[in-house]
Amino acid sequence: MNKGTTLEVTVEKFADRGMSIARADGYIVFVPGGVPGDRMRVTLVRARKNFGESRVDALLEPSPLRTEPRCAYFGACGGCKWQHVEYSAQLDAKRQTVSDAFRAFPGIADIPVHPTLGTEETYFYRNKMEFSFSADRWLTQAEIASGERFDLSFALGLHAPGHFNKVIDLAECHLQSELSARIVNGVRDFARGSSWPAWNLKTHSGYLRHLVIRQARHTGELMVNLVTSYLDEERMAALAAFLRERFPEVTTLINGVHSGMSQTAFGESLHTIFGPGVIRDRIGRHLFEIGPNAFFQTNTTQAERLYSVAREFARFRPTDLVYDLYCGAGTISLYVADAVRHVVGVELIEQAVENARANAAANGVENVTFETGDMLRLFNRSFVERHGRPDVLIVDPPRAGMHPKVVAQIAALRPERLVYVSCNPLTQARDLEALVEAYTIDEMQPVDLFPHTFHIENVARLTARA
Ligand SMILES: C[S@@+](CC[C@H](N)C(=O)[O-])C[C@H]1O[C@@H](n2cnc3c(N)ncnc32)[C@H](O)[C@@H]1O
Repeated sequence: MNKGTTLEVTVEKFADRGMSIARADGYIVFVPGGVPGDRMRVTLVRARKNFGESRVDALLEPSPLRTEPRCAYFGACGGCKWQHVEYSAQLDAKRQTVSDAFRAFPGIADIPVHPTLGTEETYFYRNKMEFSFSADRWLTQAEIASGERFDLSFALGLHAPGHFNKVIDLAECHLQSELSARIVNGVRDFARGSSWPAWNLKTHSGYLRHLVIRQARHTGELMVNLVTSYLDEERMAALAAFLRERFPEVTTLINGVHSGMSQTAFGESLHTIFGPGVIRDRIGRHLFEIGPNAFFQTNTTQAERLYSVAREFARFRPTDLVYDLYCGAGTISLYVADAVRHVVGVELIEQAVENARANAAANGVENVTFETGDMLRLFNRSFVERHGRPDVLIVDPPRAGMHPKVVAQIAALRPERLVYVSCNPLTQARDLEALVEAYTIDEMQPVDLFPHTFHIENVARLTARA
């Protein structure tokens, strides 16, 4: 096959990052945005020996799994890739993703994967959104076709996929809430009207970098965190006055200052402009305090479902000592504490641990202890001597999974029960493969926290071999 070849293909299955897979005489073709069952005409834009990447020329016959996307920016925006896919098909595809990740490892290929636990709230489900400012606006096809003239030097929204410096100026977004979209529009008008310069990702200059909105699901508390490249108290006072007047729903305003080059919405220093500097949300019976930099699952309703799977999988006894590793703000620790003797949480980020301790105290939970540190260094023999040998480990590492030395340490320690919560089945499968001599993997339960995206959380239940 050569670049430029035109083919008619039927899409077989979803792949990563909004891609799908079709085959032409055995040759694998990646098709952007395809849905299994779609009949498409595509042209190869890249042709390798074993696979090619294509551009869609025409959708000849749509798959019955297609549905109407709700958002005007669907296709252009990188936020949602699957709004055009029936939700039940999304759930099936996510289960398949988990099975495929494990199938790659012969020792763990056949572990039962339960059907994905879905949600009734497939839109407006996020409690946190990070919008980016950019001095380089990306125009959608619809905007170009409108013939209107746009100011391209200012945008606030989400990145155009594949264009690190360009941002789509979003007037609507179906991920967080209607209120959040109105705040985005309000802050954009205010900042642009005040001639505050947006961050230029090429020259690394400008003032406005990110607008982070955290909105508690159960308490309604709402944090606006404007991330800027430097501190400007006068501007912040003006923004505070504007928000107080136009959006009384905002309970706290933070100015995170991030002067570094990295394109993250992480404030190196945090300045509370008004309100308590945190919001509170409920998971299960407990109220959690969430700071601007703390990790907190972004889908509160489904996080509860995820934690209840973890709790069920752990098969707790009242005498159990539990380690909650990679514990963030202690949400899992608190969620399970009433079922066990004691929980020890470990987390890298100091502020999250402070939040975890405050959360435990505020909820009157006394049988939990938190330590700050890198698992790689902290999780060793002296840690176990300090806290005691655990009966159960719950691990919930970031996307990269666990360091091999941490996995080896778990295998050596071999607590009776292990529950592995993961947001990346590929690294989860890799880590579990390394544990098969020490553990049996009994079952897995995918949970959908991110409708319309290919992201999936998966919980695995393991039991130490005798
Ligand atoms: C997927 S989050 C899980 C948080 C928590 N279990 C929850 O559900 O809210 C992963 C957490 O691991 C922390 N983390 C990342 N690398 C770490 C490391 N090397 N040692 C300890 N914690 C780490 C992150 O800061 C983050 O809070």
